[in-house]
Amino acid sequence: MTNSNNMVIRPATPDDAERLAAIYAPYVTGMAITFEYVAPTVEEFRGRIVNTLRKYPYLVAEADGELLGYAYASAFKGRAAYDWAVETSIYLRQGESGRGLGRLLHDALQEKLQEMGILNMCACITAPRGEDPYVTENSIQFHDHLGYRMVGRFEQCGYKFGRWYDMVWMEKHIGPHPDQVEPVRFGLQAGGTSTPKKSLIVYGSRYGTAKRYAERLSAKTGIQAVDYQEVKTLEDYDRILYMGSLYAGQVTGLKKTVGKLLPQQELVVVTVGLVDTADPENMARIRSGLKELIPAANYNENRVFHLRGAIDYSHMKVKHRLMMSVVHAKIAKMPEAERNAECRVVFETYGKTVDYVDFEALKPVVKAIKTGLFI
Ligand SMILES: Cc1cc2nc3c(=O)[nH]c(=O)nc-3n(C[C@H](O)[C@H](O)[C@H](O)COP(=O)(O)O)c2cc1C
Repeated sequence: MTNSNNMVIRPATPDDAERLAAIYAPYVTGMAITFEYVAPTVEEFRGRIVNTLRKYPYLVAEADGELLGYAYASAFKGRAAYDWAVETSIYLRQGESGRGLGRLLHDALQEKLQEMGILNMCACITAPRGEDPYVTENSIQFHDHLGYRMVGRFEQCGYKFGRWYDMVWMEKHIGPHPDQVEPVRFGLQAGGTSTPKKSLIVYGSRYGTAKRYAERLSAKTGIQAVDYQEVKTLEDYDRILYMGSLYAGQVTGLKKTVGKLLPQQELVVVTVGLVDTADPENMARIRSGLKELIPAANYNENRVFHLRGAIDYSHMKVKHRLMMSVVHAKIAKMPEAERNAECRVVFETYGKTVDYVDFEALKPVVKAIKTGLFI
């Protein structure tokens, strides 16, 4: 999720602990918004993040490398029958409230919880007993605007800064409550690393270009990369990141890999070819080819990327050289005005060695993987 300030909502990682602990500390030391007395250490905070991520989402809002706030869910109560309800917590860095950030975090959290099958979001909020220097009604109003309803008020149940505080519970239903309910998918965002889904990079490469990209993506994300020819099963993964080179519009090895996909698996396809990434006609052609090949359950056009590759005629197999010479001859006969970006690049690079590989172009792919948001 981004806005004009380049803001991203992404899963928290244990390495965010120091900055998140710093956001939380003033709420402990100067406000009655939380009933903790002593601000947790960074190590304690790290442990809390890791613990939460085992079962629930934990999100941070980041802009230009700075953390502005965070939101997470925890068990409403430990017993099994409460699985479908969570308690939510949202904290913003001092000075960040009033700009819609809280709502952004809340809505992103709600979306993640809905994906898991959570049905009730509950908020436990300190309520002032009249004018109070340590807490306002703001949080109650905030939740009211988000569609929460007041459930109940516990009077004088917390003591902080030498005063007694009331606490209210507010609740929002985020899904229907059928007679036969699906179990909650705990740990859907689990891992606590920058790649919370269990992912695998699979590549199909004839001369090594797609492989170079796959290995670089692997180094940047920590996700293992394997040649499609070595993949026996994909059963252990939630998300497959397929990187394959284009040959006459076909993605090397993709068909075989698609045959191993399960319906619930998320597929991201990164094609590698000579055609310019910025050419919209090329992207449209790639997407329509993929849509035909990939089952609807796994296909999502927002999860398609294209990167520029390389070509070296001096090391090309005879069959590929022949294919290219046929295509080249065809293009040579075409009036220049009729040549699209694909024809132009094949024509311009014919017989040469060119390398358009640009690892910087992996950035949007890495960002989408890390945030889980493919926009
Ligand atoms: C016979 C042949 C057909 C190709 N067809 C396409 C194509 O349809 N679209 C494209 O963008 N690039 C095409 N290319 C360029 C390759 O995709 C490019 O060289 C790529 O970097 C090869 O990756 P690899 O080394 O991983 O196999 C073609 C190359 C050859 C030799």
